[in-house]
Amino acid sequence: MNSTDLAMDVELRYRQATGTPCVTRGPYLQSGAYNRIVIRWRTDTATDSRVRYGTDPNNLHQIADDATVTTEHEITLTGLTPSTRYYYSVGSSATVLSGGADHFFITAPLPGTRKKIRLWVLGDSGTGNKDVQDLRDSYLAYTDTVHTDLFVMLGDNAYKNGSDDEYQVALFEMFPTLLRQTVLWPAFGNHDAGNASSTTQTGVFYDIFTLPKNGEAGGVASGTEAYYAFNYGNIHFVCLNSHDIDRSTTGAMLTWLQNDLTANSADWTIAFWHHPPYTKGSHDSDVELQLIEMRQNAVPILESNGVDLVLTGHSHSYERSYLLNGHYGSSGTLTGTMILDNGDGRIDGNGAYTKPTLGPVPNQGAVYAVVGSSGHATGGPLNHPAMYISLNQIGGAVVDVDSNRLDFTFLDKTGARQDYFTIIKGSSDPGLPVELSTFYSKAGDGEITLFWVTQSELHNQGFEVFRSHTSQGPYRQIASFRTHPELEGAGNSNVSREYRFVDRFLINGKTYWYRLESVDFSGQRHRYGPIHLSPISLNTIPIDPGNVPERFALYPAFPNPFNSGTTLRFDLPSTRQPFHRVELTIHDVQGRRIRTLVSGNYAPGSYGAYWDGTDDRGTPVASGMFFYLLRTREWQSGGRM
Ligand SMILES: [Fe+2]
Repeated sequence: MNSTDLAMDVELRYRQATGTPCVTRGPYLQSGAYNRIVIRWRTDTATDSRVRYGTDPNNLHQIADDATVTTEHEITLTGLTPSTRYYYSVGSSATVLSGGADHFFITAPLPGTRKKIRLWVLGDSGTGNKDVQDLRDSYLAYTDTVHTDLFVMLGDNAYKNGSDDEYQVALFEMFPTLLRQTVLWPAFGNHDAGNASSTTQTGVFYDIFTLPKNGEAGGVASGTEAYYAFNYGNIHFVCLNSHDIDRSTTGAMLTWLQNDLTANSADWTIAFWHHPPYTKGSHDSDVELQLIEMRQNAVPILESNGVDLVLTGHSHSYERSYLLNGHYGSSGTLTGTMILDNGDGRIDGNGAYTKPTLGPVPNQGAVYAVVGSSGHATGGPLNHPAMYISLNQIGGAVVDVDSNRLDFTFLDKTGARQDYFTIIKGSSDPGLPVELSTFYSKAGDGEITLFWVTQSELHNQGFEVFRSHTSQGPYRQIASFRTHPELEGAGNSNVSREYRFVDRFLINGKTYWYRLESVDFSGQRHRYGPIHLSPISLNTIPIDPGNVPERFALYPAFPNPFNSGTTLRFDLPSTRQPFHRVELTIHDVQGRRIRTLVSGNYAPGSYGAYWDGTDDRGTPVASGMFFYLLRTREWQSGGRM
């Protein structure tokens, strides 16, 4: 035991003796998006949960709490600003347990934004041994001050059986700093199945990870953590389950995949899962069921929707293909027409792989990389004909995306570059017609205000606003610079400019999705968003959003009697109309109306309306008895307080 270990040991004993809780896992980051992130950690004794956060490391003035007393802490931060560095600490309402200058995360860029993005990709890294430590240290030296934006794991993240203890060693104690600063996006491997089931989403893998099943990080909601989509800047990611979920083309996963990719418009599409469609390593894609089914069923959907890069593991080797399209049979069926570019893909070699169009255009080629040697290299024939290169070497992959260019690098455990290639999409650098630094919305009573700020504009004619009732559309244009002067662009500008658009006559409590498009003088468009919000009056809050009550109800005021204020809760069921016209009023004992608390159109749902004890002019009323009356076209009810 060295002196640092000894100090930690003494510290731990001291804390246990004094009863101060101790963080035994994390903090670690999950399901990050441009406006939200999940922070998780574990303590040795149960406490409530508090995250303190802010953009100034010396002033974490924002707080997010969960009163549940637990050892497994999970806090979701929402309302965050895109591409922004936040510092944070974790602990309880009583104490900060873990924090400091190395506790930070950077929110994702707005979907559609083109900026430099770095991924670190490991497959089958779960051995927890010295090789992985070396790989980690050499990567950290390689990336140096370049922030790792995404940390991707391709499955078999903790050997032998994906148990909680094995995850503690192979993941949490192996990558503590990275997990504090970068969101981890894991795929499910066969060894993870030793302690988890994807059909029921139970067990260690599903307990440890919080994955975006509701589309909260972009893409179409999968409804399960077993497979999911997310956006990061101008990249759309899909993570599939190749092990213990139906892989048939008519199954739920591939049906969702088709829907998700149909709605996708990102510059780049990257897919990842565990079992490789092409490999002759420690596994053979010609004979093993999962590998064959993923190749025959998933790959055609991905290619026909313009996938650019597919990352897998499982074979404990590094195998990287040419630019391929249409190879769905066994290795013996590969023909020359399926290899769109048989060069090395290197700018200083045969030249980068090129795809004619930026964005998801069908069948323009994809590169398939098996990065399954991050924890061990166990050989095999390594002769799959689709591969440009096959190596029996421990390593991990670095993927850098910058606008229309993707650079892929395979680093061994000493940090030496063993392979690399580049993909360039579109004829030339598309540049940035408009650089947006902010795009957010604010809810009002029956209206939503959209704000955005441009840092620079190039040939920008103006903006158009599109709206939908779902994230995946269809989006309908609701305003254009051609008719709305406030949406006219600056042409060319290097100074920051603010824009604002108010969308009126909306239904309170209903969720609206918005996209923004800039249009340059040649008619070229660039898309931003989507972002979403529900309008609501200042003194009303939705309760249990998404849940629609079966009948009308008005509940007794709570608290009652009250000092500073009281809440009136009411339920609105679904009707043939898309909304209810609602009025909630407060009356004195003579029946005179003293306050109109709610007056507007509300979507079906449950709401709480807060009355602060003032009249319509804002003057506090004398204490006494009051009546409240809720009226809709079909129903009315009242009560006394
Ligand atoms: Fe595996």
